[in-house]
Amino acid sequence: MVRHILVGLDGSASSVAAAGKALSLAEQLKAQVTLLFVLQPPQVIPIGPLSGYVTTGLPQSQENVERAEAVISQVKMTRPNLEIHSRVEFGVPAEIICQQAENSGVDLIVVGARGLNTAQRFLLGSVSDRVVHTSTVPVMVVRSS
Ligand SMILES: Nc1ncnc2c1ncn2[C@@H]1O[C@H](COP(=O)(O)OP(=O)(O)O)[C@@H](O)[C@H]1O
Ligand SMILES: [Mg+2]
Repeated sequence: MVRHILVGLDGSASSVAAAGKALSLAEQLKAQVTLLFVLQPPQVIPIGPLSGYVTTGLPQSQENVERAEAVISQVKMTRPNLEIHSRVEFGVPAEIICQQAENSGVDLIVVGARGLNTAQRFLLGSVSDRVVHTSTVPVMVVRSS
C-alpha cells in the first residue's frame, strides 16, 4: 500500500515533471504527498595553495527560502483539490530526502532523473543516484525529456 509519497523538488523542470507524476499517482492511490525542497549549504573549494578558496552554491538567505516556496506553490497550484504538504530543509539533499522518508513513514520517494546540473554524459544526477543507492524506502525515478 502506498499511503505517503515524498517528492524531491529542486526547482528544475525535471523535478517539476517528477512531481506531476507523483501527484497523479497520489490522486489515484488516495495517498498523502509531501514536497521536499532541500537548500544546500554553500561549498567551499580550495583553488590553489596560495590563492585561497572560492565558495560555490547559493548563500543561505531568506531569498532562497522564498524561491523554494515559490516552486512549491507552483506545483501545489496544479492540483487545487489535493492536500499537499511541503517542507523546506537545509542540508545535503540526498541525505535529507532519505532521512525524511524514513522518519515520516513514507512509502515511496519520487525524484527526477536530472536536476539543475545538466551534464548530458550522466544518466542520473548525483542526488537521484545517491537516493536510489542508499534509500531503504522504494524510489521512483522519473525520466523526462
Ligand atoms: N536540493 C534538492 N532538494 C530536493 N530534491 C532534489 C534536490 N536536488 C535534486 N533533487 C531531486 O533529484 C532529482 C535529480 O537531481 P540531481 O541528481 O541533482 O541531478 P543533476 O545532477 O542533473 O542536478 C531532481 O529532479 C529532484 O527530484
Ligand atoms: Mg542537482
